Amino acid sequence: MASFDKLAEKLIPHYSQFKVAKRLLFTGHSHQAWPDEAFEGLKEAFLTAADQVDYKWSAAFEKTDILRQYLRRFYDDTDGHYGLSQSTHDLIIRWLSSFDLKNKPRIITTDSEFYSIGRQMKRLEEEGMEIVRIPALPLDGFSERFKKAINDQTAAALISHVYFNSSLINEEISDVAEISREFGVPLLIDDYHGTNVVPFSIREHNMEDCYFLIGGYKYLQWGEGNCFLRYPSDCSLRPVITGWFSAFETLDQPQGNNVRYSSGENRFFGATYDPSSQFRAAKVVHFFEENSLNPEILHQDYQQKTAYLKQQFEKLDLNPNYIKLKHQYPIERNGGFIAFTTPKAGEIRAELKKHDIYTDSRSDILRFGPAPYITSSQIDKSMNVLGNITKQLFRE
Ligand SMILES: Cc1ncc(COP(=O)(O)O)c(C=O)c1O
Repeated sequence: MASFDKLAEKLIPHYSQFKVAKRLLFTGHSHQAWPDEAFEGLKEAFLTAADQVDYKWSAAFEKTDILRQYLRRFYDDTDGHYGLSQSTHDLIIRWLSSFDLKNKPRIITTDSEFYSIGRQMKRLEEEGMEIVRIPALPLDGFSERFKKAINDQTAAALISHVYFNSSLINEEISDVAEISREFGVPLLIDDYHGTNVVPFSIREHNMEDCYFLIGGYKYLQWGEGNCFLRYPSDCSLRPVITGWFSAFETLDQPQGNNVRYSSGENRFFGATYDPSSQFRAAKVVHFFEENSLNPEILHQDYQQKTAYLKQQFEKLDLNPNYIKLKHQYPIERNGGFIAFTTPKAGEIRAELKKHDIYTDSRSDILRFGPAPYITSSQIDKSMNVLGNITKQLFRE
């Protein structure tokens, strides 16, 4: 038994609907199970709609505020605004539409961004934008590389805090913020793999003027439809892509010639959406609080479980031509999952699924993501099966 098993054993009964004891859900980095209490939130959403009809929106906005408060605490960020949307992609688009891309056609990013940014950058490049992709590795020296790439033609910079393809943490984001500030370039940090895994104080890192992308599908256990753009409270950007929810409080007033934006949290808001996700997520916030799943406990849990998973994998002593760790950095520089590289990533994932072991693969990368409800014996089992499958597939 490992020290982290105590917490997992305590949590498992609360995830009965997702059957976390019966299946090996190593998709913590992709979609985590929801606690049973989340189901109550979905029922509440329905009953509120049935009872209050179109007056349900004030209840829905209250739920969103619960999520905002949670994020403000996580980021030690009393001042920031948190704009809601269905996906991070929605938010990226609205954010990018705020800038003068005609006169400043250069955008800085990395070669390791998730598709929501990566694909969009590629398409913009096809339209003539100058997209500069800084190598994410080696980790050390990233800010130096960033400094060489930035210039006064740069409209914006978009980089990850924790890379989706390796789990490695970019520890130089506050240096990057300082450089961006010198050039007056707005900086967006994709923190989908950082929230609830790598505690981060926006205040202590002096990054109040930066933008953060946050999503609920993974480590927050909020499910779909709960993404946020964190932006500075004095933000005066005027996104070109803008929905009428961005002007809620001013809709009754004369609109004048120019499009107006609400102050506060709605500047990047869209239009009518299904608010049941926020009812569900607010229950998860309550569940996390009741079970003391705070940033320090979560960080420790992910560190211990990824370290254990890595150690059990190394014990298998598999041929590195078949499968190996994606990187050799120490576990302290790794986020919430372990990435392997293997030429048969998709086939291994499919075989693992036959054993009720859920993982995911992207080209030659196979990812295993634990979660607070995962036990050491589940890790042992999944690594044993991985060893056997690998040997079979490569006919050793
Ligand atoms: C780093 C990162 N950003 C964003 C996303 C999701 O983006 P979206 O909300 O646009 O689907 C993911 C994965 O789902 C991710 O790994």
